[in-house]
Amino acid sequence: MSNRAQFATKLGVIAATVGSAVGLGNIWRFPYMAGENGGGAFLIIYICCVLVLGIPLMCAEFAIGRKAQTNAGRALKVLAPKSAWHIIGYIGILASTLILGYYMVISGWVVEYIYQAIKGELFAESAAEITNNFNTFKTDVFRPLVWVGALLVINYLIISRGVTKGIEKASNIMMPLLFLILLVFCGYSLTLPGALEGLNYLFNPDFSKIDGSVILAAMGQAFFSLSIGLGILITYGSYFKRNVNLPKTGLTVSLLDVLVAILAGIMIFPITASFGISPTQGPDLIFVTLPNVFKQMFMADMWAILFFVFAGVAALTSTISLFEVAIAYISEEFKLSRKKASFTIMLIVAVLSILSSLSFSVLSEIKLFDMNFFDLFDYFSANILLPVGGFLLSIYVGWVMKKKDFKAELGETSTLLYRLILFSIRFIAPVAIVFIFLSITGIFKF
Ligand code: PHE
Repeated sequence: MSNRAQFATKLGVIAATVGSAVGLGNIWRFPYMAGENGGGAFLIIYICCVLVLGIPLMCAEFAIGRKAQTNAGRALKVLAPKSAWHIIGYIGILASTLILGYYMVISGWVVEYIYQAIKGELFAESAAEITNNFNTFKTDVFRPLVWVGALLVINYLIISRGVTKGIEKASNIMMPLLFLILLVFCGYSLTLPGALEGLNYLFNPDFSKIDGSVILAAMGQAFFSLSIGLGILITYGSYFKRNVNLPKTGLTVSLLDVLVAILAGIMIFPITASFGISPTQGPDLIFVTLPNVFKQMFMADMWAILFFVFAGVAALTSTISLFEVAIAYISEEFKLSRKKASFTIMLIVAVLSILSSLSFSVLSEIKLFDMNFFDLFDYFSANILLPVGGFLLSIYVGWVMKKKDFKAELGETSTLLYRLILFSIRFIAPVAIVFIFLSITGIFKF
């Protein structure tokens, strides 16, 4: 076991894991969700979800990975031989690969925008033209795929170098860069005339907006944002050295992830408020709304480049972690070299990305369950596989795994903290996940 790859430093552990957690979800979903659903009140609920559900489940995944010292697919075969629990790992491998099938396409859009901003072509005259340009680009057959191809190469160059020299080193460089850009941007935003209005939208607590569905949405966002339930944290956990304390790592990663989400709001809303444009969520926020705002700013090109580099770096460190789940699995199970394993998974993701990119153009008529490929990959991975994986994970660690093994894995922890974590994994998490699942699949409406 000792020749298995490991993250070399604790800082590397944090950089890589925060890299996975901080992604497009922090930029285009969280800030808007908070603004629309009660501001400061939503924030309090979100932070509670992260503390009560997120951190315990992160610990559960880390513990499985580090104890088993192997990839997500095999981990539960090692820990629970002759049982079916290893399905958790397979669900993770499938879900993370499917997520890549659309996340890579969106990441490609981000790169197109970096390119356009550098060439000074991003800013059309009118708002309608900006919307139009985005739609024309998105529905083009080849152009988005060129960027997916470029990103596959970048991901390959990082991942094929391995855990320490590839993932850890890249994260150690990219994460500080990401924070730096974010802070520069926030500094600028806060000097704008609309700063107070923007902050008010984000933070002003309105408890009347909080209801069951808002709480469930906050939980779902916490899962997605912390990259829980996809085998990523099992895989990364298997690269942690024994001296890495799991609850502390979970807490640090979660706090940084929440911090980036809040800072993203502090960056975005003062700008939109200052230039009188109402914020949106999802792809339109960064591909339509923000270009409209940037173009009114002094040194528009520079701010646009900074912003899209920021989004690109956030997305890249997330895609690396998504790739690693399947790559670790096939390289260890099929005894492939890291390069061959990376290449194989990249090919599979290339096919999925082509399907989802073309679902905006030539394949738009092809529907399964009433969804095009892009939506299908998103729905099936985030709404079905992720909750099912998370549910089984909490049952396994809460009810099946030996308590003393779990406690030993956590590292030095007070008995109280251990009990709280275990309580959440046993009782709160499974119930919460069932409710989220019923609500997002529409089986039950609250
Ligand atoms: N956590 C990332 C985000 O907030 C997305 C992601 C989800 C990355 C799942 C990896 C796995 O955007």
